[in-house]
Amino acid sequence: MYSFSAERYQNMSYAACGRSGLKLPRVSLGFWHNFGDTASMENMKAMCFTAFDSGITHFDLANNYGPAPGSAESNVGRILRDHFQGYRDELIISTKAGYLMWDGPYGDWGSRKYLLASLDQSLKRMGLEYVDIFYHHRMDPDTPLEETMGALVQAVRSGKALYVGLSNYDGETLARAEAILREERAPFVINQNRYSILDRTIERNGLKETSRRLGKGIITFSPLAQGLLTNRYLEGIPADSRIRTDGRFLKESQLSEEMLSKIRGLNEIAAARGQTLAEMALAWILRDDVVTSVLIGASRPAQILDNVKAIQNTAFTEEELKRIDELTL
Ligand SMILES: NC(=O)c1ccc[n+]([C@@H]2O[C@H](COP(=O)([O-])OP(=O)(O)OC[C@H]3O[C@@H](n4cnc5c(N)ncnc54)[C@H](OP(=O)(O)O)[C@@H]3O)[C@@H](O)[C@H]2O)c1
Repeated sequence: MYSFSAERYQNMSYAACGRSGLKLPRVSLGFWHNFGDTASMENMKAMCFTAFDSGITHFDLANNYGPAPGSAESNVGRILRDHFQGYRDELIISTKAGYLMWDGPYGDWGSRKYLLASLDQSLKRMGLEYVDIFYHHRMDPDTPLEETMGALVQAVRSGKALYVGLSNYDGETLARAEAILREERAPFVINQNRYSILDRTIERNGLKETSRRLGKGIITFSPLAQGLLTNRYLEGIPADSRIRTDGRFLKESQLSEEMLSKIRGLNEIAAARGQTLAEMALAWILRDDVVTSVLIGASRPAQILDNVKAIQNTAFTEEELKRIDELTL
């Protein structure tokens, strides 16, 4: 069994999810990429160890992470069983349901049938008795919100989840969902949404302001725009980068000349601040304390070590913010 560093809590800071008692590390690790069956188990283990040794107590999964769907949960389950025995109470493990997971009408979206069956499957794959946060993964235009929220409430009441989260909701739907969950006294604490220097949707669709008003946390996914907001693509497209190894969600076409010139400009601002571009991109999100945590992905331990340094300087001058906006808006 791996032996974790005794100093692991010294260099991380923790923030509460809105007005709740649940604290998350300001940098969390996601398992969307690089934890499926095509990835190396040794590298997966090394990333989990580096993360926990750095104070990253929050691992974020979903039923469909892979490939194949479900394999990230199975792989993490193995790592937890083999190396994290005795640490369950120091970890926040999240999972979600809401995207296509199995064939037929009950393996997608937001029905009670789907959510509760999927949670049982996730627990089995991970070898856990409960998850800390169970999310509905995306808004469902067809299922009544009362039914979806009712399934999340049931997940908590049955002891299979401690807290409720919503992902990819907009401000208006969040407000309606929150009213239902409040009436049920459900411990709904956090929204998970995409947010980065390059994607400001939650500033426009009401999610950020509604979360603030309702006292809910926000955890931001793809804070590095899947690697674009790093030094990864400054000198071309490396063979081991996400664009080349897994072009499902980050495509070469996104790396236009216009995008590259934005990245180069941002890289210069970061260098002047004494940060890597990745560190600055994360710090830019963390400067607003409505954001509880940035949810990073990584393909190797060194990236995790770089990214946790972001918390050391999250202050920006007005001039820096203006230049970032001028380059990217
Ligand atoms: N709720 C949702 O709908 C949803 C959707 C998407 C993601 N998520 C969650 O958010 C997590 C993070 O998403 P993401 O992977 O897109 O996040 P990201 O942090 O924007 O991108 C991660 C990628 O950036 C590169 N990278 C990271 N740190 C770096 C560094 N310091 N220097 C250079 N390159 C670096 C790596 O790419 P290379 O592979 O090229 O090295 C890494 O795989 C997911 O794992 C998942 O848990 C949730």
